Amino acid sequence: MNAKNTADRWGWVSQSLHWLIALLIVVIAIIGLNMVDLPNSPRKISVYALHKSLGLTVLALVVLRAAWRLYAGAPRHLPGTPTWQQRVATMTHAALYALMLAMPLSGWLLNSAAGYPLQWFKLFNLPALAAHDEGLREVAEGLHEAGFWVLLVLVLAHAGAALFHHLFQHDDTLRRMLPMRARGGASTPPEN
Ligand code: HEM
Ligand code: HEM
Repeated sequence: MNAKNTADRWGWVSQSLHWLIALLIVVIAIIGLNMVDLPNSPRKISVYALHKSLGLTVLALVVLRAAWRLYAGAPRHLPGTPTWQQRVATMTHAALYALMLAMPLSGWLLNSAAGYPLQWFKLFNLPALAAHDEGLREVAEGLHEAGFWVLLVLVLAHAGAALFHHLFQHDDTLRRMLPMRARGGASTPPEN
């Protein structure tokens, strides 16, 4: 499989980044939703630290992914896709990119405004994005939480659309984001 995206499918770099980031976001969200109610303890601190380190990893991977996307382009829309569906897909994807950046950045901001230090897997320190400020912390916390629920709705709609294409429209939308052959591929008669 190509590293770079072609007109018909996503290459392995885009595919790997898509699924790795999706998996990380699910893990981070599960940790985030559960960690807030933990009783104060050293364990709570390490669970928070894990949430933050994984979230910063997503930030770095999304920046990498966006750069790769600019360099490698994207496959064209599947032939026959109505224009309104192309527009909805493009807008959803743009919103997903925005939220994949906004979630870690609002987390980093909230952490900074709360006056907490920030490390990436105990390997190095990151600078604060803002000075200690309780008002800003509340705003950033609100954005982090609301952003998550918007992200969840969009991801469910996005995954639902991909599965709908796969199961009911029997097209290659999902296959071209997976290391699978196109449906047409095997049965296309050889040219002569
Ligand atoms: C893709 C990245 C991220 C996702 C999806 C995510 C998701 C979440 C979720 C679902 C919660 C629970 C919200 C609640 O119920 O109050 C949460 C809380 C939190 N997140 Fe994140 N997060 C991400 C990245 C980060 C990063 C990078 C940081 C810090 C550097 C961070 C810091 C926090 C903190 C401090 C809380 C607790 C807020 C509180 O105590 O109410 N998050 N996050
Ligand atoms: C946290 C979860 C997810 C996020 C943030 C996410 C985000 C994205 C984004 C931003 C794109 C557009 C890529 C680009 O234009 O560069 C995309 C494409 C795609 N995603 Fe997801 N995704 C997630 C989960 C899923 C799941 C669970 C499925 C399948 C069930 C899925 C299926 C697809 C497919 C098939 C494409 C390619 C669409 C096309 O070629 O037009 N995604 N995803």
